[in-house]
Amino acid sequence: PIRIIIDTDPGQDDAVALLLALASPDELTVEAVTTVGGNTGIENTTRNAAAILELAGRSDIPLYRGCDIPLVRPPLRAEHVHGESGLDGAALPPPSKQAEATHAVDFLTDYLRAQPQGAITLVTLAPMTNIALALRKAPDIAPRIARIVSMIGACFEGGNITPNAEFNAFVDPEAAKIVFGAGIPMVVLPLDVTHQMAATAARLAAIRAVDNAAARCVAGMLGFSERFDLKKFESDGAPLHDPCTIGWLLRPDLFQGREVNICVETQGEFCAGTTIVDYWRVTGRAPNALYLRDGNADGFYALLTERLARLG
Ligand code: BDR
Ligand code: CA
Repeated sequence: PIRIIIDTDPGQDDAVALLLALASPDELTVEAVTTVGGNTGIENTTRNAAAILELAGRSDIPLYRGCDIPLVRPPLRAEHVHGESGLDGAALPPPSKQAEATHAVDFLTDYLRAQPQGAITLVTLAPMTNIALALRKAPDIAPRIARIVSMIGACFEGGNITPNAEFNAFVDPEAAKIVFGAGIPMVVLPLDVTHQMAATAARLAAIRAVDNAAARCVAGMLGFSERFDLKKFESDGAPLHDPCTIGWLLRPDLFQGREVNICVETQGEFCAGTTIVDYWRVTGRAPNALYLRDGNADGFYALLTERLARLG
């Protein structure tokens, strides 16, 4: 299996990504989960991650609390989307699992330093604050990371927090700039593809029909985040973002894209947090990312539904 560490700010879609990964032990070994402030503050995101690990019966996976606020900017939350707890709709009991005492950034540097070259895949579902700080603190960890698979950015689809910036990039653009510039192969699941993964009524009904605790929780969470996104996108089913990263790791054949160069704008009056995707290779800058532009939504939801059934 691919050895992964998931950096996350749950968030309903983060929670679905965690469950999809935890339901797939043949392909993925989740070695740790690190949390960051993003959709909501760090206390909430850490508690929510603990609750999801417990729901999946995987309290044994270590959980590390990371940074609450971005590198240089004030925090920006998305509780208007995810609810007061960050995980409204999940209806989970308060977890008994606690985060480890070690800070997520210290965990990442110490753990990665002890690994052989290319051993670990990082999956990022949130602002990149923890990863950027770890790379600044210990640049020598970069070669230990096989690749970074991230839900971040947008190009053709436009933004979801400014006209052209995606939330995870916009909240901490300085961190994203550091990570994209670190020379580590990136795999990017942007809004271009996540907006294709509509949680339609039929797809939610199929998940609900699985009728185990994990599937009921997913149906509840997606039903909750829908109420915001449906109004906004006027579509049959809200987008589903973070689980696309795990979907790509499990079934890369479900996604199409190309190797491109991506830079992150940190300064513009209107464009801070924009991912500058050289899709047509007009700059001559060397590719640093596989940018996934399209996805097979039916295939992805079939995979998600089948895996949730395994969680019992
Ligand atoms: C991203 O922002 C967050 O609100 C979601 O969890 C996802 O990671 C989508 O732009
Ligand atoms: Ca997220």
